[in-house]
Amino acid sequence: MALGLTAGGAGLLPWLVYLAVSLPASPVAWHWPAAWAGLDGMEAAGLACTGVLMLRRDPRSRLTAAATAALLIADAWFDVTTAPPGSGELTSLLMAVLAELPTAALCAWLACRGLRALAVYPVANTGPAITGPAITGLASTRLASTRPPGTGPAGTGPAGTGPAGPALASTGGRLSAVRVLVIGSGGREHALARSLSRDPAVTQLHAAPGNPGIAELAELHSVAPADPVQVIALARQTAPDLIVIGPEAPLVAGVAEALRTAGFDCFGPDQGAAMVEGSKSFAKQIMTAAGVPTAAARTCTGVAAAKAALDEFGPPYVVKADGLAAGKGVVVTTDRGEALEHAAACGTVVIEEFLDGPEVSVFAIADGTTAVTLLPAQDYKRAYEGNAGPNTGGMGACTPLAWAPADLADETLSAVVQPTLAELARRGTPYRGLLYAGLCLTTRGIRVVEFNARFGDPEAQVVLDRLSTPLGGLLAAAAAGDLASTGKLTWLGGAAVTVVIAAEGYPAAPVGGDEIDGIDEAARVPGSYVLHAGTARDSSGRLVASGGRVLNVVAAGPDQAAARASAYQAAARIRMRGSWYRTDIAAGPASGTSAVT
Ligand SMILES: Nc1ncnc2c1ncn2[C@@H]1O[C@H](COP(=O)(O)OP(=O)(O)OP(=O)(O)O)[C@@H](O)[C@H]1O
Ligand SMILES: [Mg+2]
Repeated sequence: MALGLTAGGAGLLPWLVYLAVSLPASPVAWHWPAAWAGLDGMEAAGLACTGVLMLRRDPRSRLTAAATAALLIADAWFDVTTAPPGSGELTSLLMAVLAELPTAALCAWLACRGLRALAVYPVANTGPAITGPAITGLASTRLASTRPPGTGPAGTGPAGTGPAGPALASTGGRLSAVRVLVIGSGGREHALARSLSRDPAVTQLHAAPGNPGIAELAELHSVAPADPVQVIALARQTAPDLIVIGPEAPLVAGVAEALRTAGFDCFGPDQGAAMVEGSKSFAKQIMTAAGVPTAAARTCTGVAAAKAALDEFGPPYVVKADGLAAGKGVVVTTDRGEALEHAAACGTVVIEEFLDGPEVSVFAIADGTTAVTLLPAQDYKRAYEGNAGPNTGGMGACTPLAWAPADLADETLSAVVQPTLAELARRGTPYRGLLYAGLCLTTRGIRVVEFNARFGDPEAQVVLDRLSTPLGGLLAAAAAGDLASTGKLTWLGGAAVTVVIAAEGYPAAPVGGDEIDGIDEAARVPGSYVLHAGTARDSSGRLVASGGRVLNVVAAGPDQAAARASAYQAAARIRMRGSWYRTDIAAGPASGTSAVT
């Protein structure tokens, strides 16, 4: 209809110009009533179209606003130039000045400025209390569309892999057309972009800075992700309805908050709330105040305080740098000297009791008051087989976890997520985004090892693979503070496994620049596809490694064993000098405790 209006308007204008210029004024000229009626009808349709598209947050409302403005100006001019002499002239002039031209100015303003200012945007929810109902979200009931895999609007994503095939429909019918901007450039962001591209409601996908894999799904833009000024400028240029921030650095730098202040809906917590990841001591304060089960801890500045805390808890010692440390801030060791050295090097540290048990990642999508948990996943953090070697960003992941308690997600929601959201809201920093609870399943019950303020990487790759609720609608609802309207999440059956292909020298000193081959062959293994984590194009267009974790080979299957077999079959087809991967991802149940050096 929007296009029809524009085409109709464009066709009508030359005729009106001809009439106004060539015919003498005469009240009996048949053209005039026809032209007036035609113009008025077009204007009414244009205004109606613009209003409806605005309410649906459809960017095409800019087009109809521009067309309507042109029609109104043409109408004003036509009325004045063809008015019958006498009182008719005065009436036409008044109509033009009081009605048509002001409405045209409004439409022109809407077309130029975008419609964000007048569209129905939910007001940021800063209320102190948790009032929304909990949605446990692990049931599988509400599928609406039978759209085949890999046919999302962006259209180029790898084929769906689940045994049931993904059902793609908008949640709650709230959104009909959404432009999304994804901030980040790793495997997690490629997984987000892939899932977003498969949501029929997502009509346009942008990513910044993105990577060569994401480039197949989204238009890429160059931006420094943690610079609010640059990200806001990009948002103004691309006019997204939803911005999804992938990594922690922009969140802790306050980019989500800056975007919200600038009027954009953003999935990601404000700076104050993101400090649950940005400061280990802040996270402990929140957990203590909220009664969330976690390791007993002391925040220490200075060697004397550190010594006292180490002696209080005894070995194995757990020493955590307070701030963001790119995965290198935590030392778990039986060597008191090493623990003390790390504490001295870090300045402020959190020293805590050692937790013994398998680790699980549970993600919750939160809208400030309401939250929904996703499938629990396991991350393999250590570099080498048998959970040996240095900590990494994660060498692989799998979901669901057959060995974990069936009610783990529900328990995490009620014992960890809801109290944390309530405490943050009480402090005036409601949490809107992904709250990552890293849990240790101890013999005394679940304990929170850490919070992160974003999807875990690479757990997101497998969790999003299994999510069949369309991601764009879900994240938009959370960003808008309206999660309660989305209903229960739906999941594909079976299991998903991801294996990280790392560069030579990772994690200590990864070697970049090696050419990558075999991605297409890997994706031909049934149920498999490859996400880009640390890749780039060199000057001659070759795909090369540009980070320590280079690719994520993801595979799904009817069970974990099948998914694992496919993932490793696909991983074996990747060719890159010096590349390596762990061979025991998803090999069995979690292998027990955190590794101690
Ligand atoms: N209290 C603890 N007891 C035993 N192991 C622990 C404890 N705290 C942390 N660890 C181990 O250290 C790892 C890193 O700790 P933590 O998750 O707090 O740090 P991080 O640097 O924020 O990690 P990430 O990079 O995953 O965000 C944990 O995954 C766990 O294996
Ligand atoms: Mg962390």
